[in-house]
Amino acid sequence: MKITVITGSPRRRGNSFAMTDAFVKEAERLGHTVRRFDAALMKIGGCRACQTCFKTGKACSFDDDFNLIAPAIMEAGAVVFSMPTYWYSIPAQIKGVIDRLFSFVVGGKDIAGKKCGLIACCEEGDVTVMDGIRMPLERSAALLRWEMAGEVLVPGVLNEGDIDNTDGCKQAAELAHKF
Ligand SMILES: Cc1cc2nc3c(=O)[nH]c(=O)nc-3n(C[C@H](O)[C@H](O)[C@H](O)COP(=O)(O)O)c2cc1C
Repeated sequence: MKITVITGSPRRRGNSFAMTDAFVKEAERLGHTVRRFDAALMKIGGCRACQTCFKTGKACSFDDDFNLIAPAIMEAGAVVFSMPTYWYSIPAQIKGVIDRLFSFVVGGKDIAGKKCGLIACCEEGDVTVMDGIRMPLERSAALLRWEMAGEVLVPGVLNEGDIDNTDGCKQAAELAHKF
C-alpha cells in the first residue's frame, strides 16, 4: 500500500517525529511505500475559500507546497497525520493541509475509500487533551469516507526525548500493522 504521512511539528527531534519515524520504519519493513511530508518545514498557507480548486490544473490555485502533498494524498491508499497538541487543537502548520483537503471536495475528486491514521502527543497527562485533534480528524475522515484504521495518542510528553519514557514509539510501530 502507498501510505502518505503528514507531520505537523517543527521539532525535528521532537516526540511526534520520533513516533513518525517508528511508524515509517515499521511500515516500510512491512512492504508499504511511504511518502512523508513535514508540513511545518514546508511553505503551506491556509485555505482562501476561493473555490477554484483544480481549475488551474493543480489542487490549489494558490500555488504553495500543499500542491506537492495533494497528488500524494490522491494516489495513496492511506493517509497518516502526526502532530503535537497546540492549545488543545491541531497546530497551524498542519491545519493548512487539513483545511485544504477541501480542494478535493470542491474539485469533485473521488478520494473515498482510503484508510486514515492519527499519531498525536501532548504535555498534559490526560488523553482527552487530544480530543481537539482526534474529533476533527475522525469527522473529517468520515466526511471523506476514509476509514479510521488506528490512533496513537500519547499524553505526558513535553520536551524532546520525553517520548522515550513512554511506549509511544512502540504504539506507532504497531499502528503500521493496521494498514
Ligand atoms: C504552541 C504550543 C502549544 C501547546 N499546547 C499544549 C496544550 O494545549 N496541551 C498540552 O498538553 N501540551 C501543549 N503543548 C506541548 C506539546 O504538545 C508537547 O511539548 C509535545 O510533546 C510536542 O510535540 P513535538 O515534540 O512533536 O513537537 C504545546 C506546545 C506548544 C509549542
